[in-house]
Amino acid sequence: MTNDSREQWTSKFGFILASIGSAVGLGSIWRFPFVTGENGGGSFVLIYLLCVLFLGLPVLLSEIVLGRSTQRNPVGALRLQGPGTFWFLGGYIGILATGIILAFYSTVGGWTLFYTWQSILGNLGGLSIGEAETRFTAFISDPVIPVLWQALFMILTMGICLFGLQNGIERTNKFLMPMLGILLSILVIRSITLPGAMEGVRFILYPDWSDVSFTTIFEALGMAFFSLSVGAGTMITYGSYLSKKESIPSAVGNVVVFSTLVSLAAGLAIFPAVFSLGYEPSAGPPLVFITLTAVFAQMPAGGLFAVLFFFLLSMAALTSSISLLEVPLRYFEDEHNLSRQKGTILIGGLIFLLGIASTLSFSTWSHVKGIAGLPIFESMDFVASNVLLPLGGLVIIIFSAWKWGMHQVLEALRGEDGNRLAGEGFWGFVARWITPVLILAVFVFQVLSN
Ligand code: PHE
Repeated sequence: MTNDSREQWTSKFGFILASIGSAVGLGSIWRFPFVTGENGGGSFVLIYLLCVLFLGLPVLLSEIVLGRSTQRNPVGALRLQGPGTFWFLGGYIGILATGIILAFYSTVGGWTLFYTWQSILGNLGGLSIGEAETRFTAFISDPVIPVLWQALFMILTMGICLFGLQNGIERTNKFLMPMLGILLSILVIRSITLPGAMEGVRFILYPDWSDVSFTTIFEALGMAFFSLSVGAGTMITYGSYLSKKESIPSAVGNVVVFSTLVSLAAGLAIFPAVFSLGYEPSAGPPLVFITLTAVFAQMPAGGLFAVLFFFLLSMAALTSSISLLEVPLRYFEDEHNLSRQKGTILIGGLIFLLGIASTLSFSTWSHVKGIAGLPIFESMDFVASNVLLPLGGLVIIIFSAWKWGMHQVLEALRGEDGNRLAGEGFWGFVARWITPVLILAVFVFQVLSN
């Protein structure tokens, strides 16, 4: 049921930038630093890097290969390569995951837009940490204003998707991603040249094993999947727009290296400044909105850096949210012939409604409990990031390595010349044995210990 009018990336470069744009987002710049801060710094970073390499990378490769070889959405791709089986149900995990992630993602996306606006107005200057906290709490506990900013974030996301692949998604990424690289570099240099900044650098680079527990490993797995955008079919969808002429391994190498570098750079932009000004690294989700606001308020030219930072965060969020919306859009377009215009409005609108519930869980609905007694926002994050992504990843890796077959995957990876790739045997082994077993082990232990 693919249609011939399906667009493709104009170049491999466009695909790489869009994939990095999807991967780099709130996960790298907002979530990675606070999760690292809560989990002991360097040791968490090390485990995270191992998860990226042995769990995230094989799933990412499988997703892109599946997408490119079938040129379909996650459900269609699994159905095509596993005809007459139930593997396609795995595709629905991805569609569900992207919908839920975008719902709570847009809550935070709205916060980033609000903070960008506030920093432009100069309203964040001179705040102590206590005042920064009061501001943030007052903002998120208002029942209306955060929803309006969330609506703006969703309108921007839907607007870009409405323009389609080349004119919307690819163009936005080509413009925003290089800018993001430059802004982040400026922020890292500012942060590590502050007096006493080395303590913060040490915090993320030196492991402290005393803080590591099983939950740390689980968090690192979830973080690796979330920050690489794998397990949700996003990369199947983006891969499905990749021309069969392009080679996948080098594209994937770029995506993994750059996305990981950005997470580390975000840590380097944040912790040295936090330590330099004597704050706690373990502030949790409000780290960038409260702690960093106070940090900027004390820094020379901090007002300017605040604008740069929050703008960067909003744009990074946007290049990820468009990839999230693209998954259900592509699915409904391929499988149910829903036009992009109708799909964007219907599906974007539905996700926005769900997102309002997530935003209101900080105000009007703060007493409403969702899964495991958590508030709505945290429930959505938990279900999507900690359950659906690893589950989706597991289905994809088992399907690719065992059902579809490793030789098929490798053949697709080798490209047109058909030459063997360096390390093929090793990665084949990892994908068949190490990745699925580890994902399953981490997952089962976590469920049992809950
Ligand atoms: N990778 C994105 C981020 O780090 C989030 C995301 C997850 C996007 C899953 C698509 C799919 O913010």
